[in-house]
Amino acid sequence: MKISVIGTGYVGLVTGVCLTEVGHEVTCIDIDEKKVKSMREGISPIYEPGLDEMMKANIERQRLFFTSSYEEGMEGKEVVFIAVGTPQSKDGSADLTYLNKACKSIAQNMKRDLIVVTKSTVPVGTNEHVEQEITKHITNGFKVKVASNPEFLREGSAIYDTFNGDRIVIGAEEEAVLDKVRSIYESFNLPIVSTDLRSAEMIKYASNAFLATKISFINELGNLCEKLGANIENVSAGMGMDQRIGNKFLQAGVGYGGSCFPKDTNALLSIGKSYGHDMPIIQSVIDTNEKQQRIIVDKIKEYSPDLLNKKVAVLGLAFKPNTDDMRDAPSIKVVRELVDAGAEVHAYDPIASENARIFLPGSTVYNSSVDEAIEDADFAVIMTDWKEIKEYELQKFTKLLKNPVLFDGRNCYNLQEVAQYGLSYYSIGRPT
Ligand code: UGA
Repeated sequence: MKISVIGTGYVGLVTGVCLTEVGHEVTCIDIDEKKVKSMREGISPIYEPGLDEMMKANIERQRLFFTSSYEEGMEGKEVVFIAVGTPQSKDGSADLTYLNKACKSIAQNMKRDLIVVTKSTVPVGTNEHVEQEITKHITNGFKVKVASNPEFLREGSAIYDTFNGDRIVIGAEEEAVLDKVRSIYESFNLPIVSTDLRSAEMIKYASNAFLATKISFINELGNLCEKLGANIENVSAGMGMDQRIGNKFLQAGVGYGGSCFPKDTNALLSIGKSYGHDMPIIQSVIDTNEKQQRIIVDKIKEYSPDLLNKKVAVLGLAFKPNTDDMRDAPSIKVVRELVDAGAEVHAYDPIASENARIFLPGSTVYNSSVDEAIEDADFAVIMTDWKEIKEYELQKFTKLLKNPVLFDGRNCYNLQEVAQYGLSYYSIGRPT
């Protein structure tokens, strides 16, 4: 099928590339010309394992194209995916400015009847708005039908998730539209949930909010486990074996971050508010996470109330491993608080340092290895569980740190092992 994808952020680019991988012809449209130029050369603007290779291969097969022109990008296409950003507005709601602009541009460049599929995470009812908005700007009599097709991929495993997801959700009001969108995914061989527009939009928010709830729940229990002398990892393992609970997303840590959970939980709350519907569970999930993102600072200050001129090594900055994404990363709050308290932060992240400069205080020193960051530091703090950090030789902490003290916000190491190396080790939800 001939498809265009508007917006080449995480969702748009991965979707476009993966659709070409199964044989569709896709033109990705993005208003950023610089980005378009480099994508044409097969260079992805985001770090995502396997993406560059897949991009290059499909450009070579002449199935994947990039343009900043709607006219060129929509030429001959029967389906248009919208995957533009829906960032958080000041009041917590989703900002639909980019979406509205995309609708207008689609309408102005229509040369046939179209199906427009929204991949962006949008408030319930937005797809109806998309249909109205496009229809309002159509001047040549063509017709548009809309479908909702929310995305469930995770950054860092986006390609794997696209081909191995648990389900594909498609919402539309007409069977013919559902059929058309289902046919795009035929060769994915994944279960397809076909539903109405509003339910599809809601499934996305409900899923992210539920996953965020699992994380805040386990973090709250982890904090209690510390007081009780229990170990949250053993508790998670015991709980997770109950299939009604499931063993995923029960890992205690420094809270969730990234571009999705914080934004989507706030947007859901704001959707509720606009209908006069309180959502105390979602509110407390957000509040618990706010506190959890800085819980390691409390532990540090308890250990060392005076941080003035202390050299602190911060290991891992990205909101999770395998991404350079710093949006809402817990490391931001932690580094800022350490610097405010007078500490000298030496940070190391395998790939997120460049992006981190936008978010972290100017005094942050960026090192090029764990060794370099921890050498002579008063103590080290782990914020992201990169493989490289999880597999770091524990004896080196004892050897290189000024004091053998490690704060681990991601429970990277086994307690018995740490004890063998004489490290003072403070992790999350586990005995000290
Ligand atoms: C999340 C969802 O998992 C995807 O299904 C969804 O498509 C995406 O949001 C989105 O809406 O676009 P992502 O934000 O890439 O994906 O990252 P996750 O792997 O879900 O992790 C989110 C955060 O939760 C990270 O900060 C991670 O460290 C934290 N987390 C995750 C925990 O603290 N504990 C866990 O057990 C799992």
